[in-house]
Amino acid sequence: MFSKANWFKALSLSLLSADFARSVELGPNAQDMLNQSMTILDDIYDPSAGYLYYFYYPLAAGAHETRSSVWYSVGLLQRNSGSDVDEAVKIIENVIGGQEKDTSVQWYGDYTVYPEQPTVGSAPYDPKIYNTWDPNWRGFIGTALIVIYEEYGSLLPENVQDLIVESLKNTTIGDTYRVNGVDGDNLSPSYSNPWLMRTMASSWTGHKLKDSNMTTWGDKWAEEFLDLFDRNQTLSEFNSPTYAAVSLYALTLAAKYLGNTDSVIGKNAKRVVQQIWEYESSLWNPNLRNFAGPWDRTYGLDMNNYVSIMSLWIWSFALVSNSSISRLSSFTGEHTYNGNAYAPPADQEQRNVTSWLSSNLTIGAQSFNLDVAGGYSKDITSWSPAVVQWLRPDESVGFFSLYTGEKAMQVDVSPNSLNLSYPLGNSSSNFTFHLSSNPLGETRDITSLKDIYGMDVEVIGGTVSPDPSIAFCGLIGGDCDIIHDFEFWSLTFNLPKGSSDVPSIHSS
Ligand SMILES: *[C@@H]1O[C@H](CO)[C@@H](O)[C@H](O)[C@H]1NC(C)=O
Ligand SMILES: *[C@@H]1O[C@H](CO)[C@@H](O)[C@H](O)[C@H]1NC(C)=O
Ligand SMILES: *[C@@H]1O[C@H](CO)[C@@H](O)[C@H](O)[C@H]1NC(C)=O
Ligand SMILES: *[C@@H]1O[C@H](CO)[C@@H](O)[C@H](O)[C@H]1NC(C)=O
Ligand SMILES: *[C@@H]1O[C@H](CO)[C@@H](O)[C@H](O)[C@H]1NC(C)=O
Ligand SMILES: *[C@@H]1O[C@H](CO)[C@@H](O)[C@H](O)[C@H]1NC(C)=O
Ligand SMILES: *[C@@H]1O[C@H](CO)[C@@H](O)[C@H](O)[C@H]1NC(C)=O
Ligand SMILES: *[C@@H]1O[C@H](CO)[C@@H](O)[C@H](O)[C@H]1NC(C)=O
Ligand SMILES: *[C@@H]1O[C@H](CO)[C@@H](O)[C@H](O)[C@H]1NC(C)=O
Ligand SMILES: *[C@@H]1O[C@H](CO)[C@@H](O)[C@H](O)[C@H]1NC(C)=O
Repeated sequence: MFSKANWFKALSLSLLSADFARSVELGPNAQDMLNQSMTILDDIYDPSAGYLYYFYYPLAAGAHETRSSVWYSVGLLQRNSGSDVDEAVKIIENVIGGQEKDTSVQWYGDYTVYPEQPTVGSAPYDPKIYNTWDPNWRGFIGTALIVIYEEYGSLLPENVQDLIVESLKNTTIGDTYRVNGVDGDNLSPSYSNPWLMRTMASSWTGHKLKDSNMTTWGDKWAEEFLDLFDRNQTLSEFNSPTYAAVSLYALTLAAKYLGNTDSVIGKNAKRVVQQIWEYESSLWNPNLRNFAGPWDRTYGLDMNNYVSIMSLWIWSFALVSNSSISRLSSFTGEHTYNGNAYAPPADQEQRNVTSWLSSNLTIGAQSFNLDVAGGYSKDITSWSPAVVQWLRPDESVGFFSLYTGEKAMQVDVSPNSLNLSYPLGNSSSNFTFHLSSNPLGETRDITSLKDIYGMDVEVIGGTVSPDPSIAFCGLIGGDCDIIHDFEFWSLTFNLPKGSSDVPSIHSS
């Protein structure tokens, strides 16, 4: 996200964006983020359609995309020059036009994923949750419409303002159709980010419409969230570089738009935001520009090389306490973070997190005991329960991250050392780590642990063979596929037949 030269500049914070009494007055960092984002988005906007082109993977030639189009309209309204407001209105009307109007279907009030998609529920297009339709789009798009209404309502014709409120009413009612375990839905307080968006939207819309059912349910969902959060002041989606940021987004809207109401989420949002930054700032290593692991639900292994949404917050902070900011700004010295996270029903017991951070090496891991591999989201490709990152002499970051489908693991993290064991494992278990390629100019071929640039890794104990089998999962080929666009070396430590567990990795 940041060039190195920009990094400290980006952290010379503007607390303007934390001033919630005023809107739309951006500090220099938020303005910089807006400018860079709009430069990219202007190029992929199709004014004849009133949508952005579809630029997600798979990249889709010709098709347009709904969610990012609404976000672009926020940028247009903020910029407000030339035809920006007209284009924003076109997008808003398009997106709400495509919103589901049939109250009898499970996806009532939801928005399209992309406007060209066949009608959900038509013969060739079965209604498949998180596939042909996505229930979280109510939250992502609905909350963006709330931002538009609150911040830029005065730029919009009255009928468009009313349309937004009507759209939010439908989206809020549609969101009440979501019940964990029913019809393939999985929305529970453990699923922090959409839970918080739904909670915030229900409270906001209830206040706007004076609908006490909506505010009552918003409060009830807020209390369920707080019961879980307050166990350990951690999100169930613990330290997720992407989704912690979405939770912070929902909470920030709640603090700003509901902070002066009697809504439970509004009254608690500010302190929850600060408590999240309390632990996130302890896990942040400013030298590596990364949060130390372990990570729930990650789409990358080095934040310098992908857009994790948390990097956008670090660009434009809001509501962060001074002590957190000082930890985020410069490395405060070697330390160990100990914490807990809990995401029932996936977690059979609380997860125990230990992360050791030094100036140029971080090791973070969690003990877990799950009912399903991959955690609450059942996705082992985004489940990173043991991560080592280090600063390489060229200032790039190396990673060494466990990839596992085991349901339980015990960890021991201490300075320069990581011990892992699988209590439910057997002789066919393995410890597979995804390892970064060396930087350009260094050894291209990893043939043993000795070839890893910038860090000495040695297996000094446990029951696995100390020499891994090595595969390459490359962008254009190799032994295996890339994951979330990252290529990597895959190092697997196996047990001798009949053995049980524990490799130990000692790095210095
Ligand atoms: C953002 O763009 C505006 C308009 O082009 C310009 O006036 C402003 O200086 C830019 N700000 C930053 C921080 O880049
Ligand atoms: C909201 O839903 C109702 C059906 O309950 C529908 O008649 C109306 O057109 C919907 N409004 C929008 C903006 O989609
Ligand atoms: C009130 O909200 C609940 C749950 O959110 C919903 O199931 C119910 O239909 C709503 N009742 C009315 C009268 O709107
Ligand atoms: C997390 O919550 C559990 C359950 O209340 C408690 O036993 C544990 O001590 C808490 N851990 C921390 C670090 O607060
Ligand atoms: C936080 O830092 C700002 C800017 O340095 C300062 O004005 C403010 O008083 C500090 N707040 C607290 C609570 O220390
Ligand atoms: C986490 O620590 C607690 C307290 O020591 C323990 O009861 C629990 O079993 C541990 N969780 C895991 C997954 O090992
Ligand atoms: C190891 O455990 C897995 C999963 O429980 C099982 O499928 C496999 O047969 C076991 N292998 C051995 C060698 O016991
Ligand atoms: C490691 O174990 C997993 C799960 O049993 C298996 O799918 C994978 O092929 C193994 N990897 C290697 C390189 O042996
Ligand atoms: C990391 O820091 C240690 C202690 O200061 C130093 O010995 C080591 O060479 C450094 N490693 C890298 C890759 O900079
Ligand atoms: C890690 O494992 C090694 C080798 O088995 C052992 O010597 C060391 O004490 C363990 N460290 C911790 C912190 O458990």
